Amino acid sequence: MSSPVSPDQKGGQTPKTFMPRIFSGIQPSGGLTLGNYLGALKRFVEKQDEGIETIYCMVDMHAITTWQEPAKLRQQTREGAAAFIAAGIDPKRSILFNQSQVGAHAELGWIFNCVARMGWMGRMTQWKDKTAGKNAEAASLGLFAYPSLMAADILLYHATMVPVGEDQKQHLELTRDIAIKFNNDYGVDFFPVVEPLIEGAATRVMSLRDGTKKMSKSDPSDQSRINLTDDADTIAAKIRKAKTDPAPLPDTAEGLKDRPEARNLVNIYAALAGHTVDQVIRDFAGAQFGTFKPALADLAVAKLSPITSEMNRLMADPAEIDRILGDGADRADAIARPILEQVYDITGMIRSRRK
Ligand code: AMP
Ligand code: TRP
Repeated sequence: MSSPVSPDQKGGQTPKTFMPRIFSGIQPSGGLTLGNYLGALKRFVEKQDEGIETIYCMVDMHAITTWQEPAKLRQQTREGAAAFIAAGIDPKRSILFNQSQVGAHAELGWIFNCVARMGWMGRMTQWKDKTAGKNAEAASLGLFAYPSLMAADILLYHATMVPVGEDQKQHLELTRDIAIKFNNDYGVDFFPVVEPLIEGAATRVMSLRDGTKKMSKSDPSDQSRINLTDDADTIAAKIRKAKTDPAPLPDTAEGLKDRPEARNLVNIYAALAGHTVDQVIRDFAGAQFGTFKPALADLAVAKLSPITSEMNRLMADPAEIDRILGDGADRADAIARPILEQVYDITGMIRSRRK
């Protein structure tokens, strides 16, 4: 497959238009949560179904920026792939693969390490959060360079749009900075300036125990999140026990301001139901949590249970998942390799072994 970009394009010409192409990734550093589902997976499926070319990746190379037990990493990579398929990703229409099987990611990541500046990385809030209160000197070099590999993931495919949750916004701005600096440094118009797609009612799903903290696979409390592997009873119990305030639901969305826990549950309801927050507020104005929580639990179980059972069915045949990932990696490589070869040309590397 060839890219729409000619290798010898120089800066100063009319900027090229790039074909619409979507790339996004999820780390197999734990089991997936409702936050991953609403902020990422569900929207990945919508983009696929809109007919845009979609490439989705389990970013195992990113996962090892913090320690991962090898057997668990393998299991979580398969489980993530199973979650994509169970949520509606069709591995024939989308490309679904794991990052380490396409070596071009690491190769372009290195080149971008030489484009990006230390100062840019040091300003990343994810880096600061992950090292806060800890000895940053002991963090891996990979964790520091993480956003540069993420930029490589995206730009390797000349992807133009990246659906993500709110927490990834800064990394996508950095991806734009890397693309612009590369284009300027080498006097080319080679990499597109990507557009983040941060949309919907659930771009930032919060912890069920603390409405000011993101729901995360790495939170020590399992009660803080709904996992895509939770059964119906567990989901219902977690929602029943979710932290709230004593007031009933307001009659306008404005009334959720300064009520982070209430707002979070309403946002989750809206995103699961495919309604706007205003619609949910209209339906539940004045309702106590004693009414709203069971309704939310029923909705969550109705939407998530089919995904969980399909994931379990797929996980019974890990060889089939590996086959799908391998096939996806071949197709990803066919797009990525020619683009990487152009990057090597642009940067002045001799490629005389190229076939
Ligand atoms: P990660 O689990 O950090 O690899 O995230 C994978 C994708 O899920 C990214 O697009 C994140 O922005 C998104 N995501 C993770 N947690 C949440 C959350 N609590 N709310 C919304 N989106 C999330
Ligand atoms: N950094 C993203 C996260 O933790 C995962 C990721 C890696 C990603 N490469 C990507 C997301 C490329 C979008 C595009 O959520």
